[in-house]
Amino acid sequence: MDEKNIYVPYRMRIEKITQEAPGVKTFRLKFVNDEDALSFSFKAGQFGEYSIFGAGESTFCIASSPTRKDYIECTFRQTGKVTSALASCEEGNVIGFRGPYGNIFPLDDWKGKNLLFIAGGIALPPMRCVIWNALDRRSEFGNITILYGARTVSDLVYKHELEEWGSRNDVKLITTVDPGGETPDWKGEKGFVPAVLEKMAPASANTIAIVCGPPVMIKYTFPVLDKLGFTDDTIYTTLENRMKCGFGKCGRCNVGKVYVCKDGPVFTYRQLKSLPAEY
Ligand SMILES: Cc1cc2nc3c(=O)[nH]c(=O)nc-3n(C[C@H](O)[C@H](O)[C@H](O)COP(=O)(O)OP(=O)(O)OC[C@H]3O[C@@H](n4cnc5c(N)ncnc54)[C@H](O)[C@@H]3O)c2cc1C
Ligand code: FES
Repeated sequence: MDEKNIYVPYRMRIEKITQEAPGVKTFRLKFVNDEDALSFSFKAGQFGEYSIFGAGESTFCIASSPTRKDYIECTFRQTGKVTSALASCEEGNVIGFRGPYGNIFPLDDWKGKNLLFIAGGIALPPMRCVIWNALDRRSEFGNITILYGARTVSDLVYKHELEEWGSRNDVKLITTVDPGGETPDWKGEKGFVPAVLEKMAPASANTIAIVCGPPVMIKYTFPVLDKLGFTDDTIYTTLENRMKCGFGKCGRCNVGKVYVCKDGPVFTYRQLKSLPAEY
């Protein structure tokens, strides 16, 4: 019997650390074992359990695109025990990774459609994976629009990539920061994401909307999309219920009969509406 224990993590070397925003870092991770690298694959929307020996595990999405074969990336905010331990790591250190887990954004079903990405704050990472995936397969999709907001200019993550997306003529990027406060030199919008979306009024015809953000942003964005003519099946989002095992064994993440780790984390608005209110 030489079956791999599903709880045993891959060993991953931190190849590069990027400070994205205050308290937010991106790790580029490479498999220590070349055979693991060869056999590993994932799809946009999936997540993993990232561990630091002696501290525990944390759930983060895989923030890099599956089309970039050589590595995976995660972006995390330092909030507690495990994320603080991870934040103290240096380039060259080895951490653990289990995954990939969860369902996927059905990119293949979206061929020929326009994609409208709406993200807030630290919720850009799950979307960044799909954005790069779609950009690496650019000819398969119609218009690509990205609306991204954060509390302040310094809270915007992936600043270099925002510049890159903003300079492409096959992407429409709108960035916004919350109203109030001084923002010298800021050339983007000022306003909350749902209000900026309403002003933009993107066409809903043949368009998929992907929404990731804090609960308050999601709550006020869905009615705007509804007003713009998006249907419950053309709106996608992700849930971030606390998890333990990541693959449907421990019952930590479930909402009614739905296991967010296994049946999600990607849900259409229609699926979300059918969940008990506790999510
Ligand atoms: C599918 C999924 C994908 C995720 N992707 C990312 C990601 O890409 N980047 C990222 O920064 N975070 C992500 N998260 C949230 C991340 O898992 C937690 O912030 C992290 O595990 C906290 O670990 P900790 O030990 O540092 O914090 P703890 O010491 O366990 O807790 C610190 C504080 O964070 C709160 N907290 C912990 N987990 C969650 C959670 N899931 N939701 C809301 N509050 C929580 C606790 O209640 C507490 O107040 C994701 C969660 C899920 C389920
Ligand atoms: S995290 Fe264990 S069942 Fe979902």
